[in-house]
Amino acid sequence: MSVLITGAAGFIGSHLCSQFLENDKKVIGIDNFTLGNKKNLQKIIDNKNFTFLEIDICSKQFNEVLEKHSETIDEIWHLAASSDIEKGSDDYLIDMVNTFHTTINVCNFAEENNIEKIYFSSTGAVYGNHTDKVDEETFCLPISFYGVFKLASEHFLRSNYERFLKKVVVFRFANIVGSHATHGVIYDFINKLNSNPNVLNVLGDGYQQKPYMHVKDLINAMVYIKEKTDNGYHIFNVGPDDEGVLVKDIANLVVKAKSLDSEILFGVENRGWVGDIPKIRFNTNKLLETGWEPSYSSTEAIKKAISEIIREIDE
Ligand SMILES: NC(=O)c1ccc[n+]([C@@H]2O[C@H](COP(=O)([O-])OP(=O)(O)OC[C@H]3O[C@@H](n4cnc5c(N)ncnc54)[C@H](O)[C@@H]3O)[C@@H](O)[C@H]2O)c1
Repeated sequence: MSVLITGAAGFIGSHLCSQFLENDKKVIGIDNFTLGNKKNLQKIIDNKNFTFLEIDICSKQFNEVLEKHSETIDEIWHLAASSDIEKGSDDYLIDMVNTFHTTINVCNFAEENNIEKIYFSSTGAVYGNHTDKVDEETFCLPISFYGVFKLASEHFLRSNYERFLKKVVVFRFANIVGSHATHGVIYDFINKLNSNPNVLNVLGDGYQQKPYMHVKDLINAMVYIKEKTDNGYHIFNVGPDDEGVLVKDIANLVVKAKSLDSEILFGVENRGWVGDIPKIRFNTNKLLETGWEPSYSSTEAIKKAISEIIREIDE
């Protein structure tokens, strides 16, 4: 049997494909390359257990192409989405289509083909602004279209759990960092500095503070949770339990890692873009109670990811 991974050419999806292949699983990966890229698939594309299909989940061909493989699929890891929150902040259609509609189509495909397990990559953005640490019971009041359509996706899966799905695991990720990045704060800073090494313009006043998890820890946690959970509908915050890292500190670390003396210019608002949550902290007791432990703190994850992404982009 195989696992179907949507968003396979993206940052997290490509690492997840590699992990399952290393565990001798057969993997079918799909992506339409809106944000993902072929370079992320370089190491696995020739693996005999890997089938890659370039297809838009929202296209008419989606079912037709995938149905040829449907009999072998016993679980779906749905990661495809418009992961760039800022890009979707002025146009709700971006997230309505790529974040929500992809979930509807994937879920309908599962029903038509008797696939009963879906693992879903959600986000801390579903919570919106909260002063206390957010746990899985915290009231969700998203402030971005991205958060709205991720939460709608969660509810859509919940409704279908009542109908035909036997197991749904919703992972609400913190900010994930590491190699294969396709977007995100570190990726942005490095690319900005490559365009102009003298000045780094930071979105927001630099005091945004968020938890960061290294992608290695994330993949490890997801696979662990899969094994530890029975059939049912589960939600897990996945991130470090710490206070997070300030954006201004990330800017300084990137400038230092690139051996530059750039001037760092900050914006005036306390958020980077419309819908950005300036401060969020995760309560991950539910995750830790499974026995899983992260290897890196937010600061360690940021430092490791900076060197990995610089190596990838600059070398
Ligand atoms: N990276 C993070 O910090 C983070 C945090 C919280 C949640 N998430 C979620 O985790 C998942 C993976 O994120 P990522 O950082 O790897 O993002 P990513 O953009 O690198 O990967 C998403 C992939 O989905 C593909 N895709 C988008 N729309 C598609 C469509 N209609 N059909 C087929 N493929 C499509 C993109 O081309 C991309 O390769 C996303 O659902 C994202 O919302 C990520």
